Amino acid sequence: MPATGFDRGRGFGTGGDLHGRSSGGIGVVPVPDLPRELPVLLSSVDPNACEPVPTGIGELDRVLSGGFVPGSVTLVGGEPGIGKSTLLLQAAASVACRGSRTLLVAAEESVEQVRRRAERLGALVEDCYIAGTGDLQTALVAVGTVQPALLVVDSIQTISDPTVSSQLGSISQVRECAQALAHYAKATGTATVLVGHVTKDGALAGPRALEHLVDTVLSFEGDRHHSLRHLSATKHRYGTTGEIGLFEMGESGLTGLADPSSLLVGDRRRGVAGSVVAPVIEGRRPLLVEVQALTNSTRSSSPKRVVQGILQARLALLLAVLTQSAELPVGATDVFVSTVGGIRVSEPATDLAVALAIVSALAGVPISPETVAFGEIGLGGEVRQSPAAARRLAEAARLGFSRAIVPASTPQPGGTMRLVQVATIGEAITALGLNESHPSASRRRSDSDRANVAPAGTIDEPGGSGSAVRSGRQVRRSRPVQVPPAPRPKVGLTVVRS
Ligand code: TYD
Ligand code: MG
Repeated sequence: MPATGFDRGRGFGTGGDLHGRSSGGIGVVPVPDLPRELPVLLSSVDPNACEPVPTGIGELDRVLSGGFVPGSVTLVGGEPGIGKSTLLLQAAASVACRGSRTLLVAAEESVEQVRRRAERLGALVEDCYIAGTGDLQTALVAVGTVQPALLVVDSIQTISDPTVSSQLGSISQVRECAQALAHYAKATGTATVLVGHVTKDGALAGPRALEHLVDTVLSFEGDRHHSLRHLSATKHRYGTTGEIGLFEMGESGLTGLADPSSLLVGDRRRGVAGSVVAPVIEGRRPLLVEVQALTNSTRSSSPKRVVQGILQARLALLLAVLTQSAELPVGATDVFVSTVGGIRVSEPATDLAVALAIVSALAGVPISPETVAFGEIGLGGEVRQSPAAARRLAEAARLGFSRAIVPASTPQPGGTMRLVQVATIGEAITALGLNESHPSASRRRSDSDRANVAPAGTIDEPGGSGSAVRSGRQVRRSRPVQVPPAPRPKVGLTVVRS
């Protein structure tokens, strides 16, 4: 379908501003000076101007609560090489396929490079334009000429305005350019996406300052050495921020994952200590996530606490609870916790799985692989109910899990899922036999633990003089003996293969 003039807005709004007024044709005038501040009757404002328009990429639309909103500005952050350009090229092509003109401002890669990639991705479509420039004014002229419904600027750090004296990529350059593009977006109803690279410490390079300026901030994450990628919104003026979009990076670009749970737990090594599956709710979708823990006794006065996918503060809290409520010896132990695929889970319902993974790793005792666990852990070691228990259990049952360690008030679902209802973390430890099967799990915090010094290779023996994991039901006595170290599970992200 050849382009028939720049009749912007086919399927992507009408090019009106946020007041619902039409901007009319804007020719090549870069930033139209519309009287947006004039009052209008509230009832005359077009409410549809804020309606999201789907891109046709399901996982992206899920995170955007429906699609890009005309006139909105979205910042997509992620580490270099994670797939931002690929995602946005696919999005631009998909929007163009659906009948709206799109424009890529390629400030990093040459237009030939982008064309080659588009060919490989099957994204060479009508109505998708490209402008290879890093100059803001040239880019704005290109935008004014094409009048796209969706504009992608890749990247905001490589665009510069020569009238701003500071260097390319500096905070003032990035801010000035983003401001000009945001002004254009609002004035013309152009949905605008700014790509931003993320530094190692997780901040958007240069301008975290951009976050207040844009309507939506998306974070594109994953491990570059694995194929799983996840997209989430950390700010969204036009929708919720709870949804997560999951993709697999393959030979022909990014593909949305239709059944993420089965991929996330499919490559699991069964029967290793330190591994527990948690049914979590990300946005509206239940997801099974494997939590892995590795523990190592250390003589260091500051043992390592390393997390990937869960919050550092949550691990600190759970270790404190395990020390106080279950009397586990974590004071002189390095603790590593990760979620497989680096999936970020922030909901407290994951607490029980994280705590049990740590206890299982400490004990060197695997938890049977058909088990899932969920529940929030309180400061007193109590296991609290989590929302949507039935949906979590249904997802676990769908993927063949048959036993669930759950908060005491969880109602028994239909089907064959067997519930183990626990009121405290101690009860969960006892129910899983983690304080019986291996003596290291039943070691009481020793004086050396309290002093953060681990006696290498020394653990307690049942029947000795020390006390054991306090389960609320059972307390065993132990005394120190020398035993060989328990086998430890390997922690590492499971390679997800396409
Ligand atoms: P890219 O989108 O350029 O990342 P970013 O813009 O975030 O820097 O993606 C680069 C990586 O993605 C590169 O390592 C190659 C890989 N890739 C694929 O595996 N398959 C593909 O189809 C494409 C286009 C890229
Ligand atoms: Mg790129």
